[in-house]
Amino acid sequence: MEQRIASLLPPTHPWRDRITCLASTDSTNTRLAALAKSGAPHGTVLIADAQTGGRGRMGRSFHSPAGKGLYMSILLRPQCAPSELMHLTCAAAVAACDAIERTVGIRPQIKWTNDLVCGERKLAGILTELGFGANGTLSYAILGIGINCLHTPEDFPPELRSIATSLAQLTHTPIDRAALAAALITAFSQMSDTLLTQKRAMLDVYRRDCVTLGKQISVVRADSIRHGTALDICDDGALTVHFSDGSTENVNSGEVSIRGMYGYV
Ligand code: BTN
Repeated sequence: MEQRIASLLPPTHPWRDRITCLASTDSTNTRLAALAKSGAPHGTVLIADAQTGGRGRMGRSFHSPAGKGLYMSILLRPQCAPSELMHLTCAAAVAACDAIERTVGIRPQIKWTNDLVCGERKLAGILTELGFGANGTLSYAILGIGINCLHTPEDFPPELRSIATSLAQLTHTPIDRAALAAALITAFSQMSDTLLTQKRAMLDVYRRDCVTLGKQISVVRADSIRHGTALDICDDGALTVHFSDGSTENVNSGEVSIRGMYGYV
């Protein structure tokens, strides 16, 4: 698979010889973090055919059966302060939508902050994790993405069957996971080159594609659930919510999860 993905990238692409594909691992994000701590360079890509401990946001698991999904993590070494990277997950979501659209011809929408959805069902999730040096400076960022590709409904556990979908279910065609991986690598490397210079244009696309905006939502914290309407995306990726008690707040993706009040989105 490495050779096939590399062959689909331009011969001069700097990440071409930094791709490793594994049959199985616990979590490509966890494994790549260990490589990052041992000095792996910007653009190192880890892909697994299966994950035994795939992870999502807020301590959730990400179902990662063998041969069905694309489970990929990419190591970035941004030369900036962590405070300048607050929009990184938004940028990754837009880049992933671009890559999926180019490869299979459908453009997912985005459920704030990190889920890609089609037809009100989850197609993919993104998990961004940062690593810091001893002096508190940013050492690396890992972007992990899991895309449901070849799953039939039976490949999902019963509790996910009504809220998840796959590219094969949506397109009724076989999905070339190597071609999708190459498109993602291309889109993520372009995104990392323009992360600080193209932020405004990227956020405009994010807002356009974000299915959460205008919806009635529940904002779920560890100790509370509040209801409101999602109004806007801030420049740092936070969600502006007008709550039913009349207050308006910007909520941060690190502290809340969002539920649609009438379904998954
Ligand atoms: C979410 O749904 O909250 C995010 C899911 C992210 C899953 C991907 S699969 C590749 C990488 N490795 C992981 O353990 N998680 C991410």
